[in-house]
Amino acid sequence: MANWKEEINRRRTFAIISHPDAGKTTLTEKLLLYGGAIQQAGSVKGKASARHAVSDWMELEKQRGISVTSSVMQFEYDGYCINILDTPGHQDFSEDTYRTLMAADSAVMVIDAAKGIEPQTRKLFRICAMRHIPIFTFINKLDREARSPYDLLEELEKEFGIGTYPMNWPIGCGQDFKGVYDRQARRILAFTEFHSGQSRIQAVDCSLDDTALLDELIGERLRRTLTDDIELVDGAGYDFDLEAVREGLLSPVFFGSALNNFGVEPFLKAFLEMASPPLPRLSGTEEIRPDSDVFSAFVFKIQANMNKAHRDRIAFMRICSGRFDREKEYLHVQGGKLLRLPQPQQLMASDRAVIDVAYAGDIIGVFDPGIFSIGDTVCEKDADIRYEGIPSFAPEHFASVERIDTMKRKQFEKGILQIAQEGAIQIFHEPHTGVEEVIVGVVGVLQFEVLEYRLRTEYGVEIRRRALPYEIIRWIVGDVDVSSLNLTSDTRWVQDFRGNNLLLFTSSWCIDWAFSKNPGLELRAFNHNE
Ligand code: G4P
Repeated sequence: MANWKEEINRRRTFAIISHPDAGKTTLTEKLLLYGGAIQQAGSVKGKASARHAVSDWMELEKQRGISVTSSVMQFEYDGYCINILDTPGHQDFSEDTYRTLMAADSAVMVIDAAKGIEPQTRKLFRICAMRHIPIFTFINKLDREARSPYDLLEELEKEFGIGTYPMNWPIGCGQDFKGVYDRQARRILAFTEFHSGQSRIQAVDCSLDDTALLDELIGERLRRTLTDDIELVDGAGYDFDLEAVREGLLSPVFFGSALNNFGVEPFLKAFLEMASPPLPRLSGTEEIRPDSDVFSAFVFKIQANMNKAHRDRIAFMRICSGRFDREKEYLHVQGGKLLRLPQPQQLMASDRAVIDVAYAGDIIGVFDPGIFSIGDTVCEKDADIRYEGIPSFAPEHFASVERIDTMKRKQFEKGILQIAQEGAIQIFHEPHTGVEEVIVGVVGVLQFEVLEYRLRTEYGVEIRRRALPYEIIRWIVGDVDVSSLNLTSDTRWVQDFRGNNLLLFTSSWCIDWAFSKNPGLELRAFNHNE
């Protein structure tokens, strides 16, 4: 019991985010290498296997016995226990990424030094800023031609309205890349690339006044530039302020090259010193401390069918407080049932022992027989904890869906509900009509095809889909007698699977109508799953 606090204190849980191709996979691989979780670089993926990331990770886990799926990796380094949450690398912003960020205490953002901020990073960064998640920036690929470091920092500051603090400063780039100057250690990390693709990395303690040594290391021209740059950055840049870093107001920036394993270990060390251990989270107005005796966790992701042979679902939970014990029964708050979380790691690798304990900060994946939804809380049986739900965003495309085979009612209902619980689609129905039609809402139209495919292959149900003309959906706030509202004839009242009331509109004009005819009506574009 006594070392609970220590176990929790040594945990660092972060999400790694980037625009596709900036080097997220390469950096992750190098971090795992330092943790001894994998033995040699290159074993995570080559481009050819990138599309099979899940099986790569499963394979890796089998080989090395680490807690790995495509989305969660745990390793030890220097007395710390580190949980990395991978974020989906889709081109489009997905709710999945948002949910993953809800489970992290900080974020590491990888940026391509030649490209700077790209659309994907922009959206993700905004979410971090919204949640005040500390952001650590790794500017990658300095071994290639890069934009000026001033430009890159200015872009970060302007776009996101936060400060930046370069922890190190690049010396040249591309063919001319000679390494970085570590501002705090006053040390040069020198980089030499040989033609064979091999490189040498050498740390040299060195004052900027030692011109002879510097000239030898990086040459006179780059030495002059470096001295000027550091003078400017020291004089005109932000001061280092750990509080500001932890509040997400100041991003420590590291320059390096993940592929060359250059600057990765110093980054990891500095990150571990600066990043916070798990922090308290709110249940209503009550703050639940991570080192509380009471176990609690929330479901942030549900992944279906990791094992094609079975209809498996894994619910990923972030432990927010206390210690998880495999032998104990816990309360699934939303379901109102006591249950033992079945075999937390069994499905992650066939030859691996199930974990017996886990602590606040950790992510556990448990077998889900179809009872969990995104945002659900699981906790000690007498505790009354309910973490603020993860918001569902308003879908933008709607269709009415019916099963073709009238005999398949059970499979249809089960399938569509489970897919909705995973957060892939949202489902609605018209209250009090007795009609079996289900209205499906999605953010991207591709999700309709995914729904059709999954219902057919996993549940054996063929469906008929009819596009609906609605463009906007809004949740109704508060207790409102919806049937007495004055609405346009093409506005439709529906409920989600939790019984919340919503309105479907064909245009923003109809929303304006609703507001003007129903004083006091309050509508919301997202909903907290409570
Ligand atoms: P992602 O997960 O963010 O999508 O990026 P990933 O790590 O897959 O890296 C994308 C490409 O960038 C890969 O090249 C990778 O080798 C390269 N890369 C990553 N870090 C660096 C770096 O520091 N310097 C240079 N020069 N390249 C880097 P690829 O050719 O697309 O794939 P591969 O065949 O090398 O795997």
